[in-house]
Amino acid sequence: MFLIMFLFLTIRTQDQCEPFGIRLFLGHYYTFLKIDTDALRIVFNTKSKCNNYFSLQVKGDQDFNLTSYKTKFLNMTDVYVDTKANIQYETYIHTFQIPIQQTSKIQYILKQKDSLVKEAIVKLPHLYQNTTKVLFFGDMDSSWKLNRSKPTFDWFEQQIKEETEFDSLLFTGDMAYDLESENCLRGEQWLSRISLFTSQYPFMIAPGNHDGGYDYKQTFLRQNFQMLYLNEYDTSNYQNNFYSFNIGLVHFIQYDPVMIVYKADPNNSTQERLLSQFKNDLIQAVQNRQEVPWIVVFTHYPIYCNYMDDDQCVHNFHYLAEFEKLFQEYHVDLYISGHQHNYQRNMPYYQNHSVSFQIDGNKYYNYESPISIIEGAGGADYGPEIMIYNDQPYTVKQLAENGVGLLQVMNKTHLQFQHIQVSTNQIMDEIWIIKTNESANESANESGISFNIWFTIYILDIMLAIIGCLIMFFYFKNKSNKSKIYKKALDSNLV
Ligand SMILES: *[C@@H]1O[C@H](CO)[C@@H](O)[C@H](O)[C@H]1NC(C)=O
Ligand SMILES: *[C@@H]1O[C@H](CO)[C@@H](O)[C@H](O)[C@H]1NC(C)=O
Ligand SMILES: *[C@@H]1O[C@H](CO)[C@@H](O)[C@H](O)[C@H]1NC(C)=O
Ligand SMILES: *[C@@H]1O[C@H](CO)[C@@H](O)[C@H](O)[C@H]1NC(C)=O
Ligand SMILES: *[C@@H]1O[C@H](CO)[C@@H](O)[C@H](O)[C@H]1NC(C)=O
Ligand SMILES: *[C@@H]1O[C@H](CO)[C@@H](O)[C@H](O)[C@H]1NC(C)=O
Ligand SMILES: *[C@@H]1O[C@H](CO)[C@@H](O)[C@H](O)[C@H]1NC(C)=O
Ligand SMILES: *[C@@H]1O[C@H](CO)[C@@H](O)[C@H](O)[C@H]1NC(C)=O
Ligand SMILES: *[C@@H]1O[C@H](CO)[C@@H](O)[C@H](O)[C@H]1NC(C)=O
Ligand SMILES: *[C@@H]1O[C@H](CO)[C@@H](O)[C@H](O)[C@H]1NC(C)=O
Repeated sequence: MFLIMFLFLTIRTQDQCEPFGIRLFLGHYYTFLKIDTDALRIVFNTKSKCNNYFSLQVKGDQDFNLTSYKTKFLNMTDVYVDTKANIQYETYIHTFQIPIQQTSKIQYILKQKDSLVKEAIVKLPHLYQNTTKVLFFGDMDSSWKLNRSKPTFDWFEQQIKEETEFDSLLFTGDMAYDLESENCLRGEQWLSRISLFTSQYPFMIAPGNHDGGYDYKQTFLRQNFQMLYLNEYDTSNYQNNFYSFNIGLVHFIQYDPVMIVYKADPNNSTQERLLSQFKNDLIQAVQNRQEVPWIVVFTHYPIYCNYMDDDQCVHNFHYLAEFEKLFQEYHVDLYISGHQHNYQRNMPYYQNHSVSFQIDGNKYYNYESPISIIEGAGGADYGPEIMIYNDQPYTVKQLAENGVGLLQVMNKTHLQFQHIQVSTNQIMDEIWIIKTNESANESANESGISFNIWFTIYILDIMLAIIGCLIMFFYFKNKSNKSKIYKKALDSNLV
């Protein structure tokens, strides 16, 4: 009897200590804090506390074994106690922290007692690497009903098989629809399923409007996804919504203006805080631009999108005007968002007007404002299918299949962005952003005169040519009139 009870308890504890949702995050080594001991975090959950259950073996510069990990208790029951949300959900979140290694790849082996949980070889980005390769995608669930995200999961499976390396996956928001739905089990299922790729590549996210939870405070999200927020910006009324980090030659900035675009910031206090953080960060980034020339902003919220029934597509340039000013002033290169369920590339735009830039085929030069791209095609059962909307004046291209965006920084002057359709693994859109003035349009580049001015000169040239033709025409017409008169005169012997 006791033996049976003992066995039952042991099995139960083991079950409660079954880890799920293994995921990697970049640590504060990549922020301006540059903390050497916090390069990569390996995170997973269990139902119980499970002290001394797990160990991690790392093969990098040298082999080392970690037996200590941080455990955080997330009591969602307590978050919603005495509310209508009716949530009873508790989970323990465990974190192993790995210091930076000289080698660019590490192997980790996660064990529960003596049994293997997960082992993988992972690319560990370096602060001073010359090339960087990250993926953008978003607006994706894992509900396996309409299965709209299946092609994206399948594509990731293939990438892992082929040992494709990415420095990080940057998620543009809206996951699981929603994380706290069904007593947080939707979120738990999402964590488990994405571990297919998050156990292989560091996962950095921008929160979406579907990730906020019942009280819009993002508790489940913030606890489970270790974004590089600095707590000193938090107050009792305000939670930090901004973080930034460097990989190689790129400075990545995430900001979450959810309160602003949903007009839930009546006295502008959220905007003021977010703006000052953003501005301080950009000032630092620009000082370091010789070393890290590229600045890429990512968020859930587009400034220019095409679904005109959505207030945000009509007015975000107005709601986010103060931010857009910063992007122009500090020459942000690229702005990537989600929210609309499509892929879309826009021309450089500012306050609902086009701005000057040069384009030579698919190469952008001398852009006055960032090029903006929507990567919202991860696939979600929620809402409309991925689709094409009516083109707007800023739209360059739209695509309606599941896809991901591959950003590759080649060097200090060349950045490439490709949109890949996951079902066929084909590149459906490709652009280059170039920081030199040498394009095929030699004359334009020597003087660096913008596209708009050249266009004006071009039009002036045509007008001059037309005027010239008209003058010639009238001259010859006159001349021929004259010659006719002359001929007549000859005929009539008047001359
Ligand atoms: C780490 O643990 C593994 C297995 O438990 C062992 O084989 C290995 O020698 C250990 N490595 C170090 C550096 O202690
Ligand atoms: C979680 O919170 C609920 C509600 O406050 C509380 O009753 C419960 O004891 C807490 N769980 C743990 C393990 O502390
Ligand atoms: C990066 O490029 C610089 C200059 O082009 C070169 O000196 C350096 O060795 C490169 N670093 C790596 C890790 O390839
Ligand atoms: C979605 O996938 C699941 C599991 O593979 C399958 O059982 C289900 O029938 C699929 N649903 C649709 C609509 O294809
Ligand atoms: C909030 O900011 C916007 C522009 O940034 C401004 O138009 C508006 O007047 C401000 N509102 C308040 C209450 O300060
Ligand atoms: C602005 O709104 C916040 C949140 O509602 C409030 O805490 C703060 O006191 C307000 N500030 C001013 C200056 O009214
Ligand atoms: C933005 O510009 C378009 C024309 O390009 C115009 O139709 C639209 O009304 C403008 N939006 C706002 C809110 O002013
Ligand atoms: C020069 O630029 C224009 C647009 O600015 C482009 O259409 C054209 O193809 C470019 N010329 C060459 C030779 O690439
Ligand atoms: C930067 O990368 C581009 C594209 O790979 C290449 O054409 C160019 O020569 C490189 N520039 C330098 C300075 O290495
Ligand atoms: C390109 O030309 C523009 C306009 O003259 C100038 O501001 C910019 O600094 C030049 N860029 C480079 C990389 O030379």
